[in-house]
Amino acid sequence: MRYAAITGWGMHVPERVLTNNDLEEMVATSDDWIVSRTGIRERRLAAPHETATSMAVAAAKQACDRAGIAPQAIELIVVGTFTADQQMPSIACEVHRELGAARAAAFDVNAACTSFMYALIAATQFVRTGMYSTVLVVGVDINSRFIDYTDRGTCVLFGDGAGAVVLQASEEPAGLLSSVLGADGSAGHVLTLGDPEQLAHLNGVSEMPRPYMKMNGSEVFRFAVRIMGDAAAEAIEQAGLTYQDIDALVPHQANMRIIDAAARRIALPREKVWVNVERYGNTSSASVPICLVEAEREGFIRDGMNVVVVAFGGGLTWASGVLRWGPGSVVRERIA
Ligand code: UT7
Repeated sequence: MRYAAITGWGMHVPERVLTNNDLEEMVATSDDWIVSRTGIRERRLAAPHETATSMAVAAAKQACDRAGIAPQAIELIVVGTFTADQQMPSIACEVHRELGAARAAAFDVNAACTSFMYALIAATQFVRTGMYSTVLVVGVDINSRFIDYTDRGTCVLFGDGAGAVVLQASEEPAGLLSSVLGADGSAGHVLTLGDPEQLAHLNGVSEMPRPYMKMNGSEVFRFAVRIMGDAAAEAIEQAGLTYQDIDALVPHQANMRIIDAAARRIALPREKVWVNVERYGNTSSASVPICLVEAEREGFIRDGMNVVVVAFGGGLTWASGVLRWGPGSVVRERIA
């Protein structure tokens, strides 16, 4: 059997911090409301000179260094995002250029906040089938460019960031042991960015050059509470494991109450759940890979552990898997 081990990882968050107190000055909200409803205390916002690409490149470089590979070793770059700097070229192609990853194919995946998980699962298939042995996967979103900072229902939730992993072929169980993907297009209207009605309206409003996110928060909340737990449970079952075999949960960081519900569903105590939502808010596609980087750094996830990863997002979409952390026995292939 061939597996896709995670052998490198990296992350980038902008320096600028937007606190709940800052938001109190901008919209009718309070630190108390935000903390009690979401668990978020602050989030990071990109500086004017930063782009989704620059954040993706910073995370990708760290991941390659950590894996000990030169960019020329990468055969495929998959970037998960829904806030690309432009429609074309893709961020994956921009990362390709910036890294000088001359041998690599490159494409973006858009599954809203689930984009990194979709990208990770897609990339894993390329490695497991034998088509590629070394793949770079990035999750990045620059949400602040698409948020209406007069809408208290969305502006308190989101932040910017990027995370990346390198996958390499392994002969031992490593990387994703199971993969669950799902979507419900019939409910897509509850979370949108740039729907036709909004775009038509914005065409006449020059001071609002970009479309912004619109959300029915309580509908998304109900969906998320159900799907995060169900998807996590399905990934464990598909891997042939039981709840007792799970060492850690690394969930998409949207809201503390959603994270708690997911943990309860798979009977995992709070101390086995990685949480950083209080520091970054919802960084969308960057959320899971940033968590993996910080959890590894803190010794929270270690070689041989079974780690459940799970995310949800607009679309609506969801994805989950059980990751066996560690390099396994990586197949070192000769680079032409
Ligand atoms: O990756 C996917 C991204 N989306 C999400 O993860 C969002 C999921 N949803 C949520 O996290 C929650 O629904 C929210 C945090 C957005 C809202 O929490 P809630 O407990 O579902 O509140 P609600 O939407 O039912 O709103 C309750 C009240 C409303 O006021 P009224 O109508 O009862 O007078 C809102 O207008 O809270 C009001 N409200 C706020 N008040 C202070 C909404 N946003 C705010 C705010 N500050 N920032």
